[in-house]
Amino acid sequence: MLDHLGSLKRTHDCGALRPENDGNRVTLLGWVAKRRDLGALIFIDVRDRYGVTQVLFNPEIAEDVHNKAKTLRSEFVIAVSGIVRKRDPKTVNAKLATGEIEIYADQLHILNTAATPPFPIEDNIENVGEELRLKYRFLDLRRPKLQNNFILRHKIALTVRNYLDQQNFLELETPMLTKSTPEGARDFLVPSRVQKGRFYALPQSPQIFKQLFMVSGFERYVQITRCFRDEDLRADRQPEFTQIDMEMSFVQREDVFAILEGMMTRIFQLVGEDIQGPFPQLSYAEAMNRYGSDKPDTRFGVMIEDFSEAARTCGFKVFSDTVSHNGVVKGLCAPGAAGKSRKDIETLETWLKKDFGISGLAWLKWGDEGFSGPILKFLGEELVSQLFAQAGGKQGDLLLLVAGPNERTCQALGALRLQLGKDLQLIDESKFAILWVVDFPLLELDAEAGRYVALHHPFTSPLDEDLEKLESNPGEVRAKAYDLVLNGFEIGGGSIRIHRRDVQSAMFKALGLSPEEAQEKFGFLLDALSFGAPPHGGIALGLDRITMILSGEKSLREVIAFPKTTSATCMMTESPSEVSVHQLLDLGIQVLRQG
Ligand code: AMO
Repeated sequence: MLDHLGSLKRTHDCGALRPENDGNRVTLLGWVAKRRDLGALIFIDVRDRYGVTQVLFNPEIAEDVHNKAKTLRSEFVIAVSGIVRKRDPKTVNAKLATGEIEIYADQLHILNTAATPPFPIEDNIENVGEELRLKYRFLDLRRPKLQNNFILRHKIALTVRNYLDQQNFLELETPMLTKSTPEGARDFLVPSRVQKGRFYALPQSPQIFKQLFMVSGFERYVQITRCFRDEDLRADRQPEFTQIDMEMSFVQREDVFAILEGMMTRIFQLVGEDIQGPFPQLSYAEAMNRYGSDKPDTRFGVMIEDFSEAARTCGFKVFSDTVSHNGVVKGLCAPGAAGKSRKDIETLETWLKKDFGISGLAWLKWGDEGFSGPILKFLGEELVSQLFAQAGGKQGDLLLLVAGPNERTCQALGALRLQLGKDLQLIDESKFAILWVVDFPLLELDAEAGRYVALHHPFTSPLDEDLEKLESNPGEVRAKAYDLVLNGFEIGGGSIRIHRRDVQSAMFKALGLSPEEAQEKFGFLLDALSFGAPPHGGIALGLDRITMILSGEKSLREVIAFPKTTSATCMMTESPSEVSVHQLLDLGIQVLRQG
């Protein structure tokens, strides 16, 4: 028989009681986290969102209550009343905030039973498959670690709202059923019932709407909002995710940076970190050349070195030929890695060949007996010593070299750099490294489509001094765009926007859109820009990614309440799912089945 909650009230939460409460009469409400039945005595850990408290059932205090406690099982929901007692010093549990006390129970209400959970409701359950955790997500979310992640997530959002409110931002909403704004991914489409054959798109971001708010004169906008992108999923990518989306009028890049730096300082304070602006800035070109990435992890060194000049005249033909054919020879010095075996290096080489199409990974060791490696005989001791010196290498280090086209070489070395960072434990996981990446190119050539595409999005302003080149040399135009990078993750991206109709039209032209296509797709924006649009700019931060990094998690799934798997499935609701023929008929949709 279950008991009713009735007018029972908790006097304390399960994380509250301390030795000062000794002798207090208390009532706790929560779940049975752990149960030890020692025959004469029964110990129960009661858990709620705030913590865990040990409760003792002793037949000498209340025999009927002790008997009832025998029926308790994991995750039963209970109300327990009794007297707080200081624990014997020998039984104090230093790991628990309430570990110095326990409760001598004299009343027990069983409010609900629970089936045996498919996995233990506790932290450190790495051996439990993630699919099972996701299927029973409501139980997974009961675990203290996940509860803390979501408490942090709430605090970040609250901090953002409070700070931006002080800075005169208005929280404004934009539609979820909309015409898509092109952010580079596929759209999630929503069919219209009223207008059969027509579709809304779920927003990839509120980009155009927030710009329209600026045309409307709101001046400062923020929205913590869901965005939807149908793209390949990874640990740091979900099909629906949350942006802290912002826009400001009459600003330049530095104004946006100052607001963001103030905001990030407050966010870092939530995890006890004092990180003040101005944040370091790195140009896109430098990020690519030195880190092989536009989102460099600057928690550790090991930069990419350009050895092309030295390689031009060296005795190793692969190197000299590459440089004379406009390629580069670049490399990394892996500290303390001279002990890596030939096989270890070959494994790295196979991976880089496969994933980045490089032709080979050359290596040189500086071991106890001096330099070694298959290409030493072609380069000679003097040149090798020079290469190590250029890379800041020392005895015990390993130099890894790649020859090839610049972009591919940098990308491969960038990936190798991260791998070495992990393998050699060069990354201080307790550290945060934040920076701005600036001066992105405006456009990049899509080799497949044979035309230019916007690197950020088509509403990003070119640098004033590059405006002329938009027609004559689009590939050379730099953008007023910036990314915010934390520990090697892009946590935000934004730009100063185009606010003139003529420039926006020129941009669409550079992207290969005819005036008719531009009008059909973006007529409303072009219209708006012709009615007194102020200069404006903004940014969007990934709330999920920030929470993931600050909570020390490796996947967005640990900070999104009901996430999707990498195949975009919700394990719990089993969506996406088929719908009834009636629903399809209503929408005028026929499904083509493949295979
Ligand atoms: P962008 O496309 O760079 O910019 O997105 C902004 C930030 O959103 C986060 N993010 C994601 N997080 C999880 N899963 C995803 N699939 C995902 N995609 C993006 C990242 C990213 O930095 N409209 C522009 C912003 C602007 O120009 O103001 C935009 O959406 O942290």
